Amino acid sequence: MPSGDRDEMHDLQDLCLDLFLPGMNVLDVGCGAGRELERLAERGCRPVGIDPCDSSLTAARHHQIPVHQACAEQIPLPPACMDGVICQVTLPYTDEARAVCEIERVLKAGGAAAISCHGSGYYLWRLVHDRSWKRRLYCLRTVLNTWVYRLSGRRLPGFWGDTLYQSPRWLARHYRAAGLELVVEKIAPWFLGRPVFIYHTLRKPVAVAGATATPIVPEHEELRLLNEVRALSAEVRSALGDANPADIGRLTNDEHTVSC
Ligand SMILES: C[S@@+](CC[C@H](N)C(=O)[O-])C[C@H]1O[C@@H](n2cnc3c(N)ncnc32)[C@H](O)[C@@H]1O
Repeated sequence: MPSGDRDEMHDLQDLCLDLFLPGMNVLDVGCGAGRELERLAERGCRPVGIDPCDSSLTAARHHQIPVHQACAEQIPLPPACMDGVICQVTLPYTDEARAVCEIERVLKAGGAAAISCHGSGYYLWRLVHDRSWKRRLYCLRTVLNTWVYRLSGRRLPGFWGDTLYQSPRWLARHYRAAGLELVVEKIAPWFLGRPVFIYHTLRKPVAVAGATATPIVPEHEELRLLNEVRALSAEVRSALGDANPADIGRLTNDEHTVSC
């Protein structure tokens, strides 16, 4: 568990963006000041952000990346236009079920979404460790609001009801209802046996003639295999970088002869 250092805690919430390759259109839902937009652009992706908050958008515009004022519950983009979506610690501020449906709508078939959320462990940890009583109060009302919401389906009135913590089970329910597949779940760290950050990779299924395509490899294996292929190709590239071009030609021809 982090030592109480706020920056360290914030660094932990960073999403892994390895899924998103150069040239992909990737939407950041709740882009805030645009840090993830910048990270996506550095990877060669074509990012676009949405956020309802004026001051966040003003900061995000400094990155020279397109951003729009909009909410996750009503994304102003046509269906199936995005190769990827990210949503970093934003779902708790939204009507989650509608936001997840919108993420599914704007994704292309086969597209992926990376989502991170605060679990109950995040708020418990802050309740115990945070030095600011204001933030402790905020955590307390988040815990209360979530319990009320889970029991009654309603949030507490006004600012009391502005945020919720997430649980993997509730999120999975929203994904299923929206038709998104949960491909990878990572929870880290834990506090008092409760999840602090929940990281999910989702995929929009590819429909084939009215049916859902069966993946060639089991879904939970997909990312691991993808990463292995990437690591192998990096090794091959670096090995070839050291090799004499004549040797490469000889090697290729030899292999060709053997396989014939
Ligand atoms: C905790 S911040 C996260 C910002 C950014 N994703 C990051 O990781 O730095 C939550 C963001 O969600 C935005 N937000 C609040 N309600 C939202 C909604 N209904 N739809 C989309 N974004 C929302 C806020 O303006 C804020 O920028």
